[in-house]
Amino acid sequence: MPRSIIAGIGMYVPKNVFTNQDMMKYMETSDEWIRERTGIRERHFADRNNETTATMGIEAAKIAIERAGTTAQDIDFIIFATLSPDYYFPGCGVLVQRALKMREIGALDVRNQCSGFVYALSVGDQFIHSGMYKNILVIGSEKHSFAIDFNTRSRNISVIFGDGAGAVVLQPTEDANRGILSTHLHSDGKDAEILALYNPGTHANYWKKNLADYEDAEMGEMFESHAMIDKNQNAPVMDGQAVFKRAIVKFPEVIMEALNKNGYQPSDIKMLIPHQANLRISKFVQEKLKLGDEQVYNNIDKYGNTTAASIPIALCEAWQDGKINKGDLVCLAAFGSGFTWASALMKW
Ligand code: ACO
Repeated sequence: MPRSIIAGIGMYVPKNVFTNQDMMKYMETSDEWIRERTGIRERHFADRNNETTATMGIEAAKIAIERAGTTAQDIDFIIFATLSPDYYFPGCGVLVQRALKMREIGALDVRNQCSGFVYALSVGDQFIHSGMYKNILVIGSEKHSFAIDFNTRSRNISVIFGDGAGAVVLQPTEDANRGILSTHLHSDGKDAEILALYNPGTHANYWKKNLADYEDAEMGEMFESHAMIDKNQNAPVMDGQAVFKRAIVKFPEVIMEALNKNGYQPSDIKMLIPHQANLRISKFVQEKLKLGDEQVYNNIDKYGNTTAASIPIALCEAWQDGKINKGDLVCLAAFGSGFTWASALMKW
């Protein structure tokens, strides 16, 4: 069975930098509060008219494809991870297929939020193992700036997120010392509503009461009623402390699962690329696994939390900075809304 290697990697962040001071123009917050609680100094926001989740993914993909030494026409399959798609449907994968003038290949969208990229990578890895495809494009991209509620009422969540994209091309290798060793995927829907964007949606308050006010809406208006908009029910919500408590347990657990499966210990990791959720979470995981500063890559200070894009952006930067080299043991780990969590262990 061939293993998958990351044959090419690319990233794209919009030019527009939005600092914590900029955030203070919209809501009661402070640079000190944001930096202390999250580690974020600034994030990049997409151009409001000319950049979308798909276009940022396409820019990252072009770089990954070139670095893989292949062409868009040679890609066999697209997997696009995002929680902020250009359209509710169809997904972003087909927009990539169209923009890059690809063949009539399969395009799959993955909706696993912060774990989206690792889930997408795992799916791609299985298609390489099976021998079905030889060039798979995996993208993680987000345009959070369109859905952020720039208001003090949502400040615990609005200050966290940023826009950007990362992409990789997976190819098979026969080299026994390289490639993805294993991937590990998990979920627990018990707390599905504590980090979520409920509306627009079709839930009809079935799972939880009072998530959407649509009772007075006409047929055809229930998906997104005027009342939902008036009551700010179309903004993301998060119980930050509950997320924190689960994340600091599940991150180390899923990293250790990957290491144990392959006979490694934390000290063997050259670089851990955690989903850039929050610097405090990453530091907690680092301490728990007794990893050195040089073993964990963090760039949330510059980009904020870019959800499905955070791991490929961090991986790309770490590689560009020469911190990851051929044969190094690299671990990707994610935790987020759902809850879902995942890891991937690879020899670069
Ligand atoms: N600026 C200033 N004050 C704020 C802000 C802000 N941006 N946000 C909240 N506050 C205030 C609150 O109003 C509250 O004030 P009060 O005590 O007077 O009522 C106080 O700070 C504490 O509010 P909490 O919501 O309890 O904030 P908390 O201390 O939990 O910090 C945070 C919020 C940073 C999100 C924290 O819970 C955390 O680190 N959670 C982890 C979750 C996370 O990182 N999620 C990232 C996205 S999910 C993912 O990627 C996995």
